[in-house]
Amino acid sequence: MNNIKIGKIGIIGLGYVGFISAVGFALKGYKVKCVDILENNVKMANNGEVPFFEPNLRENLGKVLESKRFSASKDYTILKDTDISFICVGTPSLKTGEIDLKYIKSSAENLGKVLGTMDHFHVAVVKSTVVPGTTEEVVLPILEKFSGKKCGVDFSIAMTPEFLKEGDAMNDFLNPDRTVIGASDQRTANLLKNLFMQLGGKILIVRNPRTAEMIKYANNTFLAMKISFINELANISRTIGGIDINEVAQGIGLDQRISGKFLKAGCGFGGSCFPKDVKAIKEFAKNRGYNPILINAILDVNEKQPLIMIKILKEAIGNLKGKKIAILGLSFKPNTSDMREAPSIKIIDQLVKEGVILNAYDPVAIDEAKKLIKGTINYSNSLLNCIKGADACLIITEWDEFRELTPDFFIKNMKEPIIIDGRKIYDFNLFSSKLKYYTIGQK
Ligand code: UGA
Repeated sequence: MNNIKIGKIGIIGLGYVGFISAVGFALKGYKVKCVDILENNVKMANNGEVPFFEPNLRENLGKVLESKRFSASKDYTILKDTDISFICVGTPSLKTGEIDLKYIKSSAENLGKVLGTMDHFHVAVVKSTVVPGTTEEVVLPILEKFSGKKCGVDFSIAMTPEFLKEGDAMNDFLNPDRTVIGASDQRTANLLKNLFMQLGGKILIVRNPRTAEMIKYANNTFLAMKISFINELANISRTIGGIDINEVAQGIGLDQRISGKFLKAGCGFGGSCFPKDVKAIKEFAKNRGYNPILINAILDVNEKQPLIMIKILKEAIGNLKGKKIAILGLSFKPNTSDMREAPSIKIIDQLVKEGVILNAYDPVAIDEAKKLIKGTINYSNSLLNCIKGADACLIITEWDEFRELTPDFFIKNMKEPIIIDGRKIYDFNLFSSKLKYYTIGQK
């Protein structure tokens, strides 16, 4: 093991994390072999196509395919000559909020079988988000069982959480601010340190995989807490009037112990990570007999936050029945087509119930939205068509395309120029001097 040199890297699971990591390592000069159980993911990857929208990924995939440093297969045996493999499979939520480990277990079983045929030392790393204890108590025993080999002798294990942000993931992978490593032994930790040092950023080696697993949950829960905190203060500020929540965030953000990041009040957090991870750590705590009061509150605030948009809308236009409302932005944040847990879903569902006629526009997420939004709404092919003749407009996602709009554009094209801006993308003084402009936390 002392002499182990990483030449070939295996990636298990061509979802979001796996795809980015595979292309990222290949760009850094490693030969990367990927496996996925879905024929379609494999085919697309080998043809240079990406099954989701992520800036720069497709171009970089093209580069690494051309240099023959990236290949994908359904067959796990292609991992046989890899020195290290990263398990990047999904850990979806069960109905209870706990995470489902079925893909972790099946991938560990398949990796275990290949591990059994390897004649060299191998490092198996979990990159999927898993609750504390999973790498040591679930993955390790499965690897030992199906390989017939012993951890610490023939292979080792580690956990390195991923901190990629959708929409900027390629950049996050290639220029990380930090990498956290929890390994079964010091030599494995050092090996991973050398690998990740090539990407830059700070490296933190922690005492074991479960600490690394907890860091991932702590990270996302803390950021989600900052958002729910500022959203709660925004809601309180609205009851008083005259307070600008952006200035409040700026004021506390100047305190270096707090920092101004992730203090943008709005219609709530969504996506595939924050809601899922906060629920998972909550259930994890509850299953161990601990009632996580603070974590419950983060979720409670976020559950109600999208509906504040409707409350403000009612204050602005009264009865909603039969009103024509324009929705700008559907994805949970800009630069992604991801609609998972997007605040737009909850807002639209409620508006449909209230008998509103809805026109929605998003630059990339309409196809995904159609899969998740149940009620009947009209999808517009352009921003202009969306707002034309509307009684009010709700801004739910802060796409750049929306930022460029002027008050005159809304005045000229809407029936009533009333904007409820859930992401505070315009100059409050300018917009509120020209039209009826409402935001969360500024009144
Ligand atoms: C998040 C974390 O930021 C990543 O570090 C982490 O790796 C990732 O989850 C993950 O676990 O995989 P992501 O879900 O892509 O990344 O999106 P963020 O940019 O963090 O935004 C999450 C949500 O919070 C969005 O709905 C966004 O609109 C909202 N948000 C963010 C706010 O409402 N206010 C803010 O100040 C910041």
